[in-house]
Amino acid sequence: MVLEVSNLMVHYQTMDGYVKAVDGVSFSIDKGEALAIVGESGCGKSTLALSILRLLPKNAKIVGGSIILKPDGIDLTKLSETEMRKIRGRKIGMVFQDPMTYLNPAMKIGNQIAESLVWHNQLTWNEARERAVELLSRLKIPDPANVATRYPHQLSGGMKQRVMIAIAISCNPDLLVADEPTTALDVTVQAEVLELLKSLIQEMGMSLILITHDLGIVAEICDKVAIMYAGKIVEQADVYTIYKSPLHPYTMGLLKAAATVSGSEGNVESIPGTTPSLLNPPSGCRFHPRCPFVFDKCPKTEPPIIKIDDNHEVACWLRE
Ligand SMILES: Nc1ncnc2c1ncn2[C@@H]1O[C@H](COP(=O)(O)OP(=O)(O)O)[C@@H](O)[C@H]1O
Ligand SMILES: [Mg+2]
Repeated sequence: MVLEVSNLMVHYQTMDGYVKAVDGVSFSIDKGEALAIVGESGCGKSTLALSILRLLPKNAKIVGGSIILKPDGIDLTKLSETEMRKIRGRKIGMVFQDPMTYLNPAMKIGNQIAESLVWHNQLTWNEARERAVELLSRLKIPDPANVATRYPHQLSGGMKQRVMIAIAISCNPDLLVADEPTTALDVTVQAEVLELLKSLIQEMGMSLILITHDLGIVAEICDKVAIMYAGKIVEQADVYTIYKSPLHPYTMGLLKAAATVSGSEGNVESIPGTTPSLLNPPSGCRFHPRCPFVFDKCPKTEPPIIKIDDNHEVACWLRE
């Protein structure tokens, strides 16, 4: 196993009260395994990713649970910032939706990649710059030596995202956390970047947490899927089971939405209603106000996580 998250709870402090963005989330990921975390905007996916990397904003706090990095068994929630810096990049790499939140606009691409190699692997600057060009070619960037001398704004969105991935894998981490890595890209570029990501993690034996709102893109790349709604994981299974026999009405809604996006109609059939505020989430099952199968029990009591079999679990009163 590479990472085990247990009963994680993360709150934001705001003027109106506590936003319970991650509320009792548990999952684990094995070596070489790719896990997708899927849910609509506002479900707490980015908060979860930032918690693993301990990059949460100042008003956020991990209030419960653990994030255990294996095989050492270190609980990341307990580490100091200095200790965390040795984990980031070297053990856990990260790719964000907007590369510019991470790339330095005033630094040449080659130097940015080299910087992390000098810092983590103690290479000389010349060695690191050579490795940087190698990494760019590994990311299938044409004319990598030339691209290394350019600045981020001189590259297209897809190229910037490839550079981010190059930095993320530069120190050969055990785990890559990618938060909506292709959401800002157009569909063809998105497919190319995902394909590349998949072949890289397979070659390098890396584990991946791929965060996305689009269930349609995970089939090709992920082994397991965790569906997140309003701060909780509502269903978890292998990717085949999620597509073939989803059990949570929310998962079914996401599948339907994904099918209509990639289908010929060009008409997105999204789930009626919106994600709730996590200041005062709905009582009982948080999905009940939007659920087409809601019955008397749903608003009253929160459904427990029901184990269907060894690799399928769901939190829904219909499956009791
Ligand atoms: N810095 C913040 N302060 C207060 N609330 C926040 C902050 N960042 C995110 N939230 C809230 O936390 C919830 C989860 O957000 P987020 O993790 O970004 O979800 P997702 O990535 O699934 O869209 C949302 O209700 C959002 O409004
Ligand atoms: Mg997000």
